[in-house]
Amino acid sequence: MAETISITDVSPRDGLQNQAVHLSTEDKLELIARLVAAGVNSVEATSFVSPKAVPQMADAGELVPRISARFPQLRTSVLVPNLKGLERAHAAGAQEVAVVLSATETMNRKNINMGLDEATEVSAQTVLAAHDKGLRTRAYVAVAFECPFEGKTPLAEVVRLATRMHATGAGEIVIADTIGAASPQKVRALFAALRDVVPMDRLAVHLHDTRGLGAANAWAALEAGVRRFDASVGGIGGCPFAPGAAGNLATEDLVLMAETSGFTTGLSLDALLDAVDFAEQQLRRPLGGRSSAWLRRQRDKRLAAELQPA
Ligand code: COA
Ligand code: ZN
Repeated sequence: MAETISITDVSPRDGLQNQAVHLSTEDKLELIARLVAAGVNSVEATSFVSPKAVPQMADAGELVPRISARFPQLRTSVLVPNLKGLERAHAAGAQEVAVVLSATETMNRKNINMGLDEATEVSAQTVLAAHDKGLRTRAYVAVAFECPFEGKTPLAEVVRLATRMHATGAGEIVIADTIGAASPQKVRALFAALRDVVPMDRLAVHLHDTRGLGAANAWAALEAGVRRFDASVGGIGGCPFAPGAAGNLATEDLVLMAETSGFTTGLSLDALLDAVDFAEQQLRRPLGGRSSAWLRRQRDKRLAAELQPA
C-alpha cells in the first residue's frame, strides 16, 4: 500500500501575508473552502502578529471563529510570535499555534524584533503557555539553510534550536527554508543530523521554490524520512521581512511529485487547480507552481474529451 504524506497548506498565511492585494475575510474563507474541496485537511490559516507589521493578517480574530464554524473538521494552525499573539489566538478559539524562531540573530531581529536568545526563550514560553491552554503546537526553525542577512546557516545551530523546541514539547518542529536556498544534498545532511535528536514523525519541512529546487528538495526530505510538508497552492508566499524570498513550494507540485512516486496525499490535482484559479482571480496575476501549466493542459484535454459526443 502506498505510504501517506501529510500536507499543511499554508496559502492563507504564508501565501497571503506579503501580497499587494489584501484579501477580505470572506475571500480567505472561500480560498480555504477550495482547499478543503481539494482534500486539504490541515491549513495554516493566519497569524496573530502586529497589524502594523503585517496588515494582510489584521482580520485573524474574525477569521478563526468563522473557519471553526464552517470547517469543524479542518486542522487549523495559526502563527503566533509571542504571548500576546497566543492570547489573541486562544480568545479566537484557535486549537493549534505555531511559533516562529529564526536560526540567526539578524533574522529574528528583522522579523519579530528580538535577538536569537530572546526569541528562543519567548518561543519556548509561548509553546509551554499554549500547552497549558490545551492547544497543539508547531515550532518553526526559520532560515534553516541560509539567512538573507547572515548567509549560510550553521547546521549545528538548526540542530540546537530544533532540540530545544523539541525538549520544550512542541508537537511538530518545522524546518523552514524561508528564502528557498536549500539543495537536495543540504536537505539530506540536515535531516540526517536532526533524526538523532528529534523523532522523524515530529519533523516537518517548509520549502520555498525561489531557485526552482523546491520539488527536488522535497524529494530529498522524503528520502530522508520526512512525511510532513508545508506547501501553498499556486506557490504563493514569502516573508515580508526576508528579502529575496519567493513563494512556497506549490501544493500541486508537491502532490504531483509525491503521487507519481508511490505516495498518497489524499489531494485532488484538478480541485487544487480550482484553488489556484481562485487565488489568481483574487490576486489579479498569473499564479501556479512549476507543473500547473501542464496540469491545466491535461485538465482541458479531459474536459474537451468529456464534451465530445459519444
Ligand atoms: N499581535 C498584535 N499586536 C501585538 C502583538 C501581537 N502578537 N505583539 C505585540 N503587539 C503590539 C503591542 O501591543 C504594541 O501595541 P501598541 O503600540 O498599540 O502599544 C505593539 O505591538 C508593540 O509591541 P512590542 O511588544 O514592543 O512589539 P514589537 O514592536 O517589538 O513587535 C512583533 C514585535 C512580534 C509584534 C512584530 O515584530 C510582528 O508582529 N512581526 C510580524 C512577524 C511576522 O508575521 N513575520 C512573517 C511570518 S514569519
Ligand atoms: Zn515560508
